[in-house]
Amino acid sequence: MLKNSNPTQTNAWKALQKHFAEVKDRHTLSLFEKDAARADKFSIQWHDFYVDYSKNRIDEETMKLLVQLADECHLKNAIEKYFGGDLINNTEKRAVLHTALRAPENSVVNVDGKNVMPEVAAVKHKIKQFSEEVISGKRKGYSGKAFTDVVNIGIGGSDLGPAMVTEALKFYKNHLNVHFISNVDGDHVLETIKHLNPETTLIVIVSKTFTTLETLSNALTVKEWFLKSGNEKDIAKHFVAVSTNLQEIDKFGIDPDNVFPMWDWVGGRFSLWSAVGLSIALSVGYDNFDKLLKGAHAMDEHFRTAPFANNIPVVLALLSVWYNNFYGAESQAIIPYTQYLHRLAAYLQQGIMESNGKQTDRDGNPIPYQTGVIIWGEPGTNSQHAFFQLIHQGTKLIPTDFIGFKHSLHGNTDHHNKLMANFFAQTEALLKGKTEAEVRKEMGDKVNEALVPFKVFTGNRPTTSFLIDKLTPESLGSLIAMYEHKIFVEGVIWNIYSYDQWGVELGKQLASKILKDIAATEISAHDSSTTNLLKQFKK
Ligand code: F6P
Repeated sequence: MLKNSNPTQTNAWKALQKHFAEVKDRHTLSLFEKDAARADKFSIQWHDFYVDYSKNRIDEETMKLLVQLADECHLKNAIEKYFGGDLINNTEKRAVLHTALRAPENSVVNVDGKNVMPEVAAVKHKIKQFSEEVISGKRKGYSGKAFTDVVNIGIGGSDLGPAMVTEALKFYKNHLNVHFISNVDGDHVLETIKHLNPETTLIVIVSKTFTTLETLSNALTVKEWFLKSGNEKDIAKHFVAVSTNLQEIDKFGIDPDNVFPMWDWVGGRFSLWSAVGLSIALSVGYDNFDKLLKGAHAMDEHFRTAPFANNIPVVLALLSVWYNNFYGAESQAIIPYTQYLHRLAAYLQQGIMESNGKQTDRDGNPIPYQTGVIIWGEPGTNSQHAFFQLIHQGTKLIPTDFIGFKHSLHGNTDHHNKLMANFFAQTEALLKGKTEAEVRKEMGDKVNEALVPFKVFTGNRPTTSFLIDKLTPESLGSLIAMYEHKIFVEGVIWNIYSYDQWGVELGKQLASKILKDIAATEISAHDSSTTNLLKQFKK
C-alpha cells in the first residue's frame, strides 16, 4: 500500500503557494537574460534523449520546492512499491507491474510470493515463435496460403497501444498489412474487412477481460464474415486471442494453442508490452518488439535510480503539478515533430486521463484540488496551421511538449531541417513573444496604430523540448515508459489511485439497459431528454 498524504498539507505545498505568489507574473525570458547557464541548468541528457525544460516558468527555488513536495509525498517509497509488486492498485487489490514485462528475463519479480518472470518469458517466447512463423509464411491459412493481413480487434488499451506503436514504427514494418478494429460502429468493422480475403487474414482478438461489448461484437461479426468462406474447424488457423479470461476464450471457440495469456497485474492502458503487443511483433518482427521493450526497461532503470532533480519522468510530473495546481492550467499539448507519432496524443489521452482523472483521494475523501490533466495534440507542423494560434495568443495557459528527432528515417535532410526549424522556432516564439516596441519597429515609418495590439504576443508560454537521436524501437520504448512513469508520479503526489477506472463503468451499464429499450416496444424510465432521443431514434 502507498503511504497516503494530502499534498496540500505538506510544508512544500505551502512554500510553493508563497513562492507562486511572488513569481507568477514573472516573464521567463527575464530569467534567461539574468542567467546565461539557464538552459544547461534546466536540461537533462540521458542516453540519446536531450530534455530541455528551461523554457518553463521555474527557477531553482521552484524546482527545489517541487522536489521537496515529491519527498514529502513519499515518492521514493512509492517507486519501490511500484516496481516491487505491492498491491498499489488498491481498489482492485492488484499489483501494477507492466515494468516486469520489459525487465531482463533473469530478474525476479514476485506477485503474491511467486516469481512471475518465468511466465513472462514463456509468453514472450510464444509471441516470438508465432510472429516469426506468420511473417515467414510457415504458418498458413486454411487454404494453404500465407497470411497477408492481420486484424487486431480490441478497444482502449487493447487497441490504442498496438495501433499507436505500429504506426510509429511503420518505417520498420514488413509485408503484413495490420488493421485495427475498435469501435462498435458496424461501419468501422465492415469498412475494414470489405477488401480482405478471409483465406489470408489472421484475426487477433485482444481483450484483457474478454467481456467488453465492443470487442466481442466486432469479433462475432468478423467470425460470421470468416465462416462465409471457411469452416468452423478453420477458425483454429485464423483466430488467436490475448486475454486473462481463458474460460470466455474457450466459449468463443478459439484453439487453446492460439491463446496468449496476460495477467491482472498489467493494466489495459499499460499492456502493449505484453501479448497485447502481438500485432506489433507481427508488424515489425519480434526483434524490433524486443528492442521496444529494452528501450522501456532503460527508462525504468533511469526512473528508479536517478536523483529526482535529474530524473526525467519525475521532473515532468513536477512541472505538471506546478502548472495544474498553482497556475490552474487545465490541459497540456503533446506535439511530436514526426508524422509517425500521429497517434501518440490519442494513446496518451487514455494513459493519462483514464489513470489520473480521479476525484477521490486514496483515503476515500473528495479531492478539493485539481487532478488529471486534459491531454491533446497532433503532429507538428500540421498543428501549427490548426490550433497553435490559441497556444500563442489565447487566454489559456497550455504547457506544451515538443518531441523531435535529430535524424529523419528516410534521410531527406531538406525536409527534416525545415521540420525541425519549425520546432525550434515555435518554442522560441512561445517563450519570447513579440513586444509592442518590436511590433512598431517592424512596421517601420508607417505604424498602423489599429493593428498594433493584435500583433503583440505576450510570450512566456511554457514548453518542454525533447530532442531524441532517431525514432527507433528503443527510443520509442523509452518515450512511452517516460510518460507512464510521469503518470505514476502525478498520481502519488495527488494522492489518488491511478490504476483503476471506475468512471467508465456507469456508461457501460446504462448502454446495456438502453440496448434493451431499443429492441423493446416500451422504453424504460429515463430522464425526459434520453427518452425523447430514444423515441426519435426508434421512429
Ligand atoms: O475503457 C475501459 C477499459 O476497461 C480500459 O481500461 C481498457 O483498456 C478497455 O476498457 C478494454 O478492456 P478489455 O481489454 O478488457 O477489453
